[in-house]
Order: sequence, then C-alpha cells, then structure tokens
Amino acid sequence: MAILNIILAPDPRLTTRAVPVNDIDGDLKRLMDDMLETMYAAPGIGLAAPQVGVLKRFFVVDVGENDARDPRFFVNPEITKRSETKAVYEEGCLSLPKQYGDVERAEAITVRYLDRAGTERMLDADGMLARCIQHEMDHLDGILFVDHLSALKRRMILRRMTKVKRSKQAD
Ligand code: NI
Repeated sequence: MAILNIILAPDPRLTTRAVPVNDIDGDLKRLMDDMLETMYAAPGIGLAAPQVGVLKRFFVVDVGENDARDPRFFVNPEITKRSETKAVYEEGCLSLPKQYGDVERAEAITVRYLDRAGTERMLDADGMLARCIQHEMDHLDGILFVDHLSALKRRMILRRMTKVKRSKQAD
C-alpha cells in the first residue's frame, strides 16, 4: 500500500463536482486501500477521492473508538433521509490542516451506497458517523466545511491556507 499526497485547499480539484464510479475494479480497490492507509497515517477519520486528486464519487471513513478499527468504504453514496434534528460540532479536514469551525448538520441520516465489494447497502447512521459521512459527501460535490461557515471566517481560513501553501512551496 502507498501513502498518497493529500491536496490542500485552496485548489480547484476540491471545488469540483465528482462523477459517479462506473466499475469497482482492482485499480479502484487498490486506490481505496491506499486512501484508507493515507487517512490512518494523517491521522484522520475520513478521506474523499477528490482530496487525492481523483474526481470520482467515493470516500473512506473510520470512526472506530479506542483504536478499534472500523474501516468503511462508500461508493456512489446518496443520502436518502436526513433527520430534522440538527447537531453542531467543530469540524476539521485533512485538506485544511489545523483549521476548525462549528458546522451544523443533520443529527441522523440514511445513506445508500455500494461497499468495497460492489454490494448495494443502506445504512442508518447518527452521531460521529453521520457527521463524517455528510462531510465526505460534501467533498464529492466540491464543498468544504468552510463553506458552511460565515464568509468572514471562511476567508480568514482560506487566507491562512494560501500562506501555508506558499511557505511549503518555498521550502
Ligand atoms: Ni474533509
């Protein structure tokens, strides 16, 4: 397995709508496994394909507690139900390291998707899993968590990120 390069915001690949996956073949499975490894190494609890430069609709998440691994793969996911009850929680993102903001999302969702084997599944999720899935779903539509914040806060974070990227290039 390989550790992939995670794209940092601002980057046009992070604001582009991804296209559906046609076929879960060996190459795609390998890519998903690499993404999982990259996410664990970061470390993070979710990573969407556009974050590694692949503009396709899939992501990996693991919100397992106490070091118990619980890797999940979501291909062509669709949220079919959102609870009216909302929850607010401070989010971060591997494409915006060290930046955080409070985001309001549905407390519970139902999601339909294909798993790593290509089997269609329905999942009722709440709590951290529901939040993580909604955050990663956003990535597939070119939306970042900062897009849920005030314009002022968003501009502040993106300006900071532009500086971080500039200093990295200078290294
Ligand atoms: Ni993210």
